[in-house]
Amino acid sequence: MFKLLAVFVVLYGINAQIIVPRKCPDLGVQEDFVLDRFAGLWYEQEKYPVNWEENGSCITHEYTKISDREINVHIEQLYGTTGVIRIIEGSARLDGKIDEAKFTVNLPVGPVSPYWVLGVDYEDVAVVWSCVQLNETAAAESAWILGREKQVDAAVLEKAYNIFDRENISRAELVKTIQDNC
Ligand SMILES: *[C@@H]1O[C@H](CO)[C@@H](O)[C@H](O)[C@H]1NC(C)=O
Ligand SMILES: *[C@@H]1O[C@H](CO)[C@@H](O)[C@H](O)[C@H]1NC(C)=O
Ligand SMILES: *[C@@H]1O[C@H](CO)[C@@H](O)[C@H](O)[C@H]1NC(C)=O
Repeated sequence: MFKLLAVFVVLYGINAQIIVPRKCPDLGVQEDFVLDRFAGLWYEQEKYPVNWEENGSCITHEYTKISDREINVHIEQLYGTTGVIRIIEGSARLDGKIDEAKFTVNLPVGPVSPYWVLGVDYEDVAVVWSCVQLNETAAAESAWILGREKQVDAAVLEKAYNIFDRENISRAELVKTIQDNC
């Protein structure tokens, strides 16, 4: 029983996530979302800490269209100082209309979760957000700022921060993803 619990904690990393004492909020997402333009390679800039990215650097998220409403999600990271590349592969599917930026994601590192694109300009930056209701009073929240380049300009990051502010979600938990020597 204890062993099973330990495995659960490692896999789902509840302890290493941002737990917020509230119901998952119904945030605004990118209007007129175009999946084709969102697809492709993104370099992770900043994120809320999540256990399966601990000690990961050079993290990329690549989305490849599978159908009108489904993408393959391929996340790659350099793991610690070992030189090992860790690959996480799954898929995400649009929940509703094909221009509504709300996916459900299925990754081997966690439960099936919402995966919402709060904002994306397609050329420079995207903000992806996820929230899992743990119980009546607590939610585990994840957020990623993704850039089209390894190191984006401050002005580009500012665009992403404005999306956090627009939705009144905290930026205090954001940590930088190392994209040096990749
Ligand atoms: C991350 O690195 C620290 C320091 O080397 C280590 O203690 C910790 O176990 C590592 N975590 C993971 C998930 O590899
Ligand atoms: C809800 O989950 C949080 C985080 O795991 C925990 O701290 C809290 O005690 C839980 N509350 C209830 C009512 O179970
Ligand atoms: C913004 O979020 C904070 C903290 O979650 C909350 O206290 C505040 O009421 C929110 N403000 C608005 C305008 O929703």
